[in-house]
Amino acid sequence: MTGRFTNLLRGLSAHWLGKLGVALVTSSFLIFIFLELLRLLGLLENAYAGLITYMTLPLLFIIGLILIPIGWWRTLKRTGLSSRQLLERRFPARELEANIYGSGVVGSILLLTVLNLIFLGGGSARMLHFMDGAEFCGTACHSVMNPEWVTYQASPHAHVDCVECHVGEGAGALINAKLNGLWQVVSATFDLYERPIPTPVHQLRPARETCEKCHWPEKFYGDRLKVIPQFAADESNTASYSTLNLKVGSGSGESGAIHWHVAEENSVRYASVEDEREEMIWVEWLQEDGSWHRYENQRRLGEVSGHEDGRLLDCVDCHNRATHIYEDPDAGLDERFAAGELDSDLPWLKREALGAILSGWASKEAAQEGVANALTGFYRAEYPELAISKMASIDRAVESLQGMVARNLHPGMNITWGAYKSHLGHTANGGCFPCPNEKMVDENGPAIRHHCTLFHSILAHDSSGPLPYPQPPGEKDPAREQGEDLRREFLKSGGGD
Ligand code: HEC
Ligand code: HEC
Ligand code: HEC
Repeated sequence: MTGRFTNLLRGLSAHWLGKLGVALVTSSFLIFIFLELLRLLGLLENAYAGLITYMTLPLLFIIGLILIPIGWWRTLKRTGLSSRQLLERRFPARELEANIYGSGVVGSILLLTVLNLIFLGGGSARMLHFMDGAEFCGTACHSVMNPEWVTYQASPHAHVDCVECHVGEGAGALINAKLNGLWQVVSATFDLYERPIPTPVHQLRPARETCEKCHWPEKFYGDRLKVIPQFAADESNTASYSTLNLKVGSGSGESGAIHWHVAEENSVRYASVEDEREEMIWVEWLQEDGSWHRYENQRRLGEVSGHEDGRLLDCVDCHNRATHIYEDPDAGLDERFAAGELDSDLPWLKREALGAILSGWASKEAAQEGVANALTGFYRAEYPELAISKMASIDRAVESLQGMVARNLHPGMNITWGAYKSHLGHTANGGCFPCPNEKMVDENGPAIRHHCTLFHSILAHDSSGPLPYPQPPGEKDPAREQGEDLRREFLKSGGGD
């Protein structure tokens, strides 16, 4: 049997092109099997090795397959023989004798073709599967996707594959994504891409298909208590706390909840200036009779956007940073203080840390070294005793800041603080405010309702400790008035009882 195949291969490689073809086919096949075995044994996890296994080797295999008949044809031309005569010359007569399966040569070729098809089919299935993995998307184009990969790994969606959000369902979306990917390979190779990568991502699959596979709008109910700690840039890093009661329900029937916007029965669409989602031109809300009720921005009357029907508001219009979460420098430090990574007993730590991370570092390495030098340098110069007695705290602070800059600063991709804005909440411009604000009017005049309590109650603002459950305020309580307001809102009762 093997003898027969070696004969066949020798017979087929009549021309040097044929020889090259046979060599390519056999070697790429054997290497593929070898690498695939390593991968199955868990010895090979590298994305580049994957690129070779699943893209380069099958490509070489196909090129080899094409070269074999070209070589055969060139030999025919060169020798002036007919196919029959060449066959007789290249193969022993018994191989060419007809039996019930046709001749031996034809049988071998058929068998090889079937094997090739199985190999290519299996190979491409493995390739598609591999290319759908987050590891591939995040690391194959190393420097380009590094920011997205780093932020992804630190996000609540670190176990959701990139393609779950970035590639739609069905063959059309798959082909689209692969064509797009091909273009990305070209633009990464020839350095044609924009830095940072532009957002919003227009080919993102609709959130109704992605997010709602795991989070159902019907299941949003209740409130969420959120404590926002803040640390001042003073000597003692003074702490204060704000406590919000976020109304994250979908507000069935009434519009008093954040996820009202995506509840089953509601549709909202909008057109924004230059598609940036930072200023709206108009916003519409679907009525029961099927008409759209329109609110227009007084400052942008009559302007049109590229999309006449606007965009249907979905999860990613607010949660645009659900996965690639970049931090705000101030709030990021506050979180690390609250988590104990930054020790508030270190004098001026907030101020010094902010200065260090905001220094405009030119590279990742410079940032890593720079924050370490800035912090240790400061304490050695200003507080030499502390620099020794609190060495462990300072080291921990350095490590924490290094983690923070590694996540947020990607100078190679022009990503610095604030390069990608979050539309959730309203810490910076944008966020909620482009829609509910007094400039958005309909023909009757009134603006979209924009009272804060529709979305949250502020239980405590800059208080010196996290909020205790609202108790009836004492007669002499300095926060008495606020306490009574809260009780009125929550317990629907006045201050007296
Ligand atoms: C849970 C959903 C989700 C997952 C998982 C996800 N992304 Fe994203 N991605 C988004 C959203 C949402 C945006 C921003 C869309 C917008 O603003 O239009 C985005 C934006 C991007 C961008 C554009 C740059 C930016 O930050 O806006 C790139 C590139 C990207 N993602 C790559 C990846 C890669 C690589 C992975 C896997 C390692 C991944 N994504 C996983 C949801 C996801
Ligand atoms: C494959 C399932 C899956 C998909 C798809 C998915 N998520 Fe999630 N998401 C999760 C899980 C699981 C968590 C909770 C992780 C945890 O608690 O640590 C989560 C957490 C979140 C959180 C944080 C909740 C919190 O407690 O702070 C938000 C916001 C969120 N998802 C929004 C989205 C958006 C927007 C999309 C679509 C772009 C999306 N998710 C797609 C599974 C998913
Ligand atoms: C109008 C803006 C907006 C839209 C649209 C929106 N969200 Fe949210 N979502 C928020 C805000 C604001 C919060 C509270 C954020 C926080 O905790 O700081 C939130 C919280 C969440 C949470 C955490 C809820 C909890 O109980 O702790 C999840 C999960 C989530 N959203 C998923 C989604 C999904 C999925 C969609 C689409 C079906 C969606 N959101 C649409 C604004 C929005």
